[in-house]
Amino acid sequence: SDSPVNVTVTGAAGQIGYALLFRIASGQLLGANTPVKLRLLEIPQAVRAAEGTALELEDGAFPLLAGVDVFDDPKAAFSGTNVALLVGARPRTKGMERGDLLEANGGIFKPQGEAINAGAADDIKVLVVGNPANTNALIAQRHAPDVPADRFTAMTRLDHNRALSQLSRKLSVPVSQIRKLTIWGNHSATQYPDLFHAEVGGRNAAEAVNDEQWLAEEFIPRVAKRGAEIIEVRGASSAASAASAAIDHVYDWVNGTAEGDWTSAAIVSDGSYGVPAGLISSFPVTSSGGSWQIVQGLDINEFSRARIDASVAELEEERQAVERLGLI
Ligand code: NAI
Repeated sequence: SDSPVNVTVTGAAGQIGYALLFRIASGQLLGANTPVKLRLLEIPQAVRAAEGTALELEDGAFPLLAGVDVFDDPKAAFSGTNVALLVGARPRTKGMERGDLLEANGGIFKPQGEAINAGAADDIKVLVVGNPANTNALIAQRHAPDVPADRFTAMTRLDHNRALSQLSRKLSVPVSQIRKLTIWGNHSATQYPDLFHAEVGGRNAAEAVNDEQWLAEEFIPRVAKRGAEIIEVRGASSAASAASAAIDHVYDWVNGTAEGDWTSAAIVSDGSYGVPAGLISSFPVTSSGGSWQIVQGLDINEFSRARIDASVAELEEERQAVERLGLI
């Protein structure tokens, strides 16, 4: 059989980590024939809890799980790693300004980028989940100059999946019949879920909906603010759904997207669709041969243009803020 793939998960003792690790161990991240070695990174205070999760992973007796190691040092955790899921981040606490939040996360993602640069495997693929995900990914990428920039991505797949599900409910069609939906921009409340190129059973989704008020006043805000809705109802932030989206993102990156469809991921812009080159922004993307490509040639109407521009402007502001703070 194949030799194990090294997968590093940061924030392994957190709530997303707890949902994510068991799905990785069961083979859902890479595919059912690929053995996995897990490398868990936590801060020293949470190492013991991560070791507890490692014991539970052992108790799963997963045939594809080739080992679990726990670390509190990024250099060790990323040594030889093939896939890095950067989940651990500093949350915004009451009274915290955006600058403080960016600075605290810079203190996490700069050393992690450096550690990836120093020791990860040549085929390293990085997914940043921890918020602010796009800008954390940018910070890590800028501190890994020897790694191709396109190996650093941020997660908008949860937003994509939320949009699929909302559209499926609106039109009473299964999600499996929906294709070519797009999340543009930042993983934040400014993100833009775009139905204008989506297809439902072969028909244009915006035409099938035929309700611009629903689009502007229900669909877009519901998807963009779903994280707050989950906190309100569940009493805790999205965890299993976030883990599930991380699985989807990496699975598609490694195994490719389906012919005739695309998905959404925040990847380094090459300037496509007027998104300044170098920003890590969500696009319609396909994957083949282990790399993402931005879907080209889509017509962007006025409705979409204004919303894409607003989200990209927020990303540009975040980039300038981390530049001013000396984090990149
Ligand atoms: P959590 O607070 O339960 O767990 C975070 C874990 O990260 C903690 O165990 C903490 O000790 C650890 N950690 C902190 N700094 C670390 C470091 N330097 N190295 C290694 N580990 C470190 O949080 P949860 O619910 O698991 O969420 C994690 C992140 O994912 C948050 O930033 C959250 O906002 C984000 N998120 C992103 C989503 C997306 O769609 N992109 C969706 C949902 C959550």
